[in-house]
Amino acid sequence: MDALTSIREETLKKLGGASNEAEIEQLRVQVLGRKGELTAILRSMGQLSPGERPAFGQKVNALREEIEGALTQKSAAIESAQKGARIKAETLDISAPGEALPAGAAHPLMSTMEKIVKTFVNMGFRVEEGPEIELDHFNFELLNIPKNHPARDAQDTLYFSENILLRTHTSPVQARTMLGQKPPIRIICPGRVYRADELDLTHSPAFIQCEGLVVDEGITMADLKGTLAVFAREVFGESVQVRFRPSFFPFTEPSAEVDVSCPACGGSGENCRVCKGTGWVEVLGSGMVNPRVLELCGIDSTKYTGFAFGIGVERAAMLKYNVPDMRLFYENDSRFLAQFSKGRL
Ligand code: DAH
Repeated sequence: MDALTSIREETLKKLGGASNEAEIEQLRVQVLGRKGELTAILRSMGQLSPGERPAFGQKVNALREEIEGALTQKSAAIESAQKGARIKAETLDISAPGEALPAGAAHPLMSTMEKIVKTFVNMGFRVEEGPEIELDHFNFELLNIPKNHPARDAQDTLYFSENILLRTHTSPVQARTMLGQKPPIRIICPGRVYRADELDLTHSPAFIQCEGLVVDEGITMADLKGTLAVFAREVFGESVQVRFRPSFFPFTEPSAEVDVSCPACGGSGENCRVCKGTGWVEVLGSGMVNPRVLELCGIDSTKYTGFAFGIGVERAAMLKYNVPDMRLFYENDSRFLAQFSKGRL
């Protein structure tokens, strides 16, 4: 067997066994490369007689072309086999059942707040917002809460500095609104507020309030009562009763705390943990805007009167959904939350 035949057979045999691009490349270098077997033979042609050279040269070139063709073919075959394997592995089985994604739902605090806001918006109120980091001036001063008032105690209020604090209620939005707008004013301000309280069954250092304010000519306590009665029925149900109890807030005069008949026991009070047997639960503070607050906020108190209220949203949600512990709202345990998503979580 001559050298060319043996190179041919050896190369084709090795090529037959090659299984990847690297092996093919190695073979190419070994046979056709600058220092390859076939190249060496071509170089040795000088030893032949001039008459033999052309025929031999042709044979070498023919073999070179054959081997090149075989290498290219093999390489294409490997690539197509790899592609085929990958496509097979990536096949999408459209008949396989889909993975069900658990659907979320509005958090009970948010849905309670939305219900409250919607109720007032339907009565013509506009939504206002204010900063959570507030100045003493808006949180206390303009609301007729004097320097020595216990509400300013560091026990209750989280201070950044003497004049900057985390708002303790949404009432500063009242002051900001009155300073920036002329009556008639009819606003609702939902938002987070902060107090230096420990987290327990009924307290949290961060909670949500919803403030309301109406200022116009001829506004009376009757407007306050009618508006809040609509709120109570919309949020707690048609059959709920509303009770106004005299109270005190520096920014309202007169002031009233508003109770609703206990949604848990229907107002009977019998063995009821929620209302502690009284049949009533407090849901908000309210009153006629203190004329001094109107004046401090640039509104003529001889011409205008107003009413205001502040609803505790956690308290409202606890009553609405019969939740015994406020902490459940913040823990985000899906077993708790799923109860508000109609079983979809
Ligand atoms: N700001 C009061 C609080 O946080 C709630 C409140 C009471 C708001 C009476 C009012 C109001 O606007 O008129 O306890």
